[in-house]
Amino acid sequence: MSDPRTLRVELGERAYDIRIGTGLLARAGAEIAPLLKRPRVAVVTDENVAALHLDALRDGLAAAGIEMTALTLPAGEATKSWPHFTRTVEWLLEQKVERRDVVVAFGGGVIGDLAGFAAAVLRRGVRFVQIPTSLLAQVDSSVGGKTGINVAAGKNLVGAFHQPSLVLADIDVLGTLTPRDFLAGYGEVVKYGLLGDEAFFDWLEEMGPKLAAGDIEARIAAVTRACEMKAEIVARDETEQGDRALLNLGHTFCHALEAATGYSDRLFHGEGVAVGCALAFELSARLGLCAQEAPSRVRAHLRDMSMKVDLADIPGDLPDAEGLLALMAQDKKVVDGQLRFILARGIGQAFVTADVPREAVLKLLDDALLARR
Ligand code: GLY
Repeated sequence: MSDPRTLRVELGERAYDIRIGTGLLARAGAEIAPLLKRPRVAVVTDENVAALHLDALRDGLAAAGIEMTALTLPAGEATKSWPHFTRTVEWLLEQKVERRDVVVAFGGGVIGDLAGFAAAVLRRGVRFVQIPTSLLAQVDSSVGGKTGINVAAGKNLVGAFHQPSLVLADIDVLGTLTPRDFLAGYGEVVKYGLLGDEAFFDWLEEMGPKLAAGDIEARIAAVTRACEMKAEIVARDETEQGDRALLNLGHTFCHALEAATGYSDRLFHGEGVAVGCALAFELSARLGLCAQEAPSRVRAHLRDMSMKVDLADIPGDLPDAEGLLALMAQDKKVVDGQLRFILARGIGQAFVTADVPREAVLKLLDDALLARR
């Protein structure tokens, strides 16, 4: 085990560290102890993570004399809902979690968002620690304080900005992810290179296959660079008044595709992000904003990684272009009825714009759908 790397999310009195490395579960007690007023924590997790890693976390906490109680929820997106939210808040109250205590979110994006939101409202706000166990959660959802649940009207429509007090990204736990889950998270990793760091994208083109094959140093380096970029953007724009929207590269297309596939295992979120990034770059090239070489490079890398790239890679039926556009219009990024896109002037040069002709988007989707036949 090497010493973990430490990044700081600079948010004044809400600033916190992200610790990235191996063996972090074993030393979770030592990492969390400085935050505690008494040696106990309430952990929220899911069945899959609990079966694989809860004993290791319990031992790691016990090594620093910290007692742990745990709530184990079902795995999957359906858990990010009112019933499980209510259950979590009530369980935390039963556990007599007080204002000065700390809740631990131990899982992927679903658990992080749900437990973070529960911590945000419990007793008007208690602190929480994120221990993300998926690649997607390590590079994106555990950092930046977006918490919440899905409701009938749409995904993530109820929630709060509530920053964690600490993030522990243990790279060892990525070893138990399925290849598909790992690659879905990798869609979010690629997003960082595409939105703001061409050198990182160059590096991923070379190192991506090693990352997927389990190279620990490469995984630490990739998670570190992604978190560095996220920390920097969040520090500039915590509540998404401007630049934070860059993190949504590929997401307007992705959200429409996720809705069209019923948020099912036909398309994982990170897979939709990868397909969405390829579409955003193709649109940018068609609008004359970047050279055709850029979308070609994006697509080539995703193909090299055996990821979903095209609409043709999504199994089952999809709506027509008008239908997809209607789903895009339900995106949270609509302002005054205007759809906002993240487009790019090249790899690593993304920007936010509302100035995209509807016809160009329709034609892009039409062509992409045609290629499925
Ligand atoms: N996942 C996008 C954000 O945190 O802003």
